[in-house]
Amino acid sequence: MSASPRLKPPFLSAWLRNPLQMGAVVASSDELAHAMAAQVDADSQLIIELGAGTGAVTTALLARGIAPSALVVIEKDPELARQLARRFSSPPVIAGDAARLRDLLGHIHDRPADAVVSSLPLLSMRTLTRVRVLAQAISALRPKGRLIQFTYSPKPPIPGPLAAALGVSGERVGRVLWNLPPASVWVYTKLS
Ligand SMILES: C[S@@+](CC[C@H](N)C(=O)[O-])C[C@H]1O[C@@H](n2cnc3c(N)ncnc32)[C@H](O)[C@@H]1O
Repeated sequence: MSASPRLKPPFLSAWLRNPLQMGAVVASSDELAHAMAAQVDADSQLIIELGAGTGAVTTALLARGIAPSALVVIEKDPELARQLARRFSSPPVIAGDAARLRDLLGHIHDRPADAVVSSLPLLSMRTLTRVRVLAQAISALRPKGRLIQFTYSPKPPIPGPLAAALGVSGERVGRVLWNLPPASVWVYTKLS
């Protein structure tokens, strides 16, 4: 495991194209990626990864034992999505906006997901976009399915009243200091 923050040229190029969409200047550390992946069951039937970027969390999910056929990767930046598809022949990588998740998944999977693992920069999104993205992510989950999200903020990535309105309950499950910036991992469980 690399013990340094990920200074990856593709990530920096994507940040220069669209800093708000990236939400960070460097990719997630291996420590953060593994802390996210630790929150999913290795025998999950379907996991959706949102905002895969340069693939740090994708790599950690595969290392956790998730079958490539049980993973679908979504990334909005077309160049990053192309690079992910080149790097991972399987799982499928879909270039598209998580706010249109249902349409994007339509031709691949219609079963509910066990988990959605998100690196999306929720806090730099406009409120309406954030609500749309979260509503789509949560509706893709089975009852008791988990949305795993990291944040750089000391506050929850989904404010309490919004989480309640979306039918999930959240808890912070870890803090990763070895990341730039340090991050917290939250798990939101779909109530029904
Ligand atoms: C913090 S970065 C990802 C970090 C990733 N774990 C890595 O190590 O590279 C956030 C990613 O979310 C993507 N993104 C932002 N908004 C998105 C959206 N609406 N739909 C899909 N991907 C999105 C960005 O293009 C970016 O790659």
